[in-house]
Amino acid sequence: MIIAPSILAADFAHMAKELCEIEKAGADWVHLDVMDGHFVPNLTFGAPVIKKYRTYTSLPFDVHLMISNPDDYIEDFIDAGADIITVHIETLKNPKQTLGKIRSLGAKAGLSLNPDTNIEKIKPYINLCDVILIMTVNPGFGGQSFMYEQLEKIKILRKWLDTEKLSTIIEVDGGINHKTIQLAEQAGATAFVAGSAIFNGNYANNIKSLRNKDFIK
Ligand code: DX5
Ligand code: ZN
Repeated sequence: MIIAPSILAADFAHMAKELCEIEKAGADWVHLDVMDGHFVPNLTFGAPVIKKYRTYTSLPFDVHLMISNPDDYIEDFIDAGADIITVHIETLKNPKQTLGKIRSLGAKAGLSLNPDTNIEKIKPYINLCDVILIMTVNPGFGGQSFMYEQLEKIKILRKWLDTEKLSTIIEVDGGINHKTIQLAEQAGATAFVAGSAIFNGNYANNIKSLRNKDFIK
């Protein structure tokens, strides 16, 4: 199980410390939410900020682009040190070309979809992805509640990947806590983004709880 803390819930004024802390606490990846105030109604940070963050941890950078026209910025994010670049199907004119570009520049390619986007939309591209990111909240903000009806998409995707014998990672993002992580895992996900469930309280204990799901009744 891959645990990817979303730094959207971290202290932006002390990110160097936050990155060191989550690495020590046992995180597998760092999830970086890039928002443009256009594709989603919120703004965060871009490639120059990620480049600075890159020097404080050796954990893989899982960069989630919630931006219009992602094609224009892929080189910048790879230069900044992104290991995985996830783009949204809703923003792409030519998904095959964009995913191919990410891979050809040496990063892993991820494809995501919003809760109201049909899973069938990504079906033609699953063999071009290293990661498929299922959104279980509407993108834009941390701390929202998990949308249970999205579990069905994970199950469908799990079947498609198994049938085609693809080792693509199914990642889930939004409202993940010690309870919802178990449902997402049972549905077939293997990587889990968590913001508020990790950055509120003791990071190591929170990550351990997500892995052990030890608060499930
Ligand atoms: C939402 C972001 C998520 C978010 C998760 O647009 O993509 O990564 O930070 O935060 P929590 O875990 O608090 O729902
Ligand atoms: Zn995200």
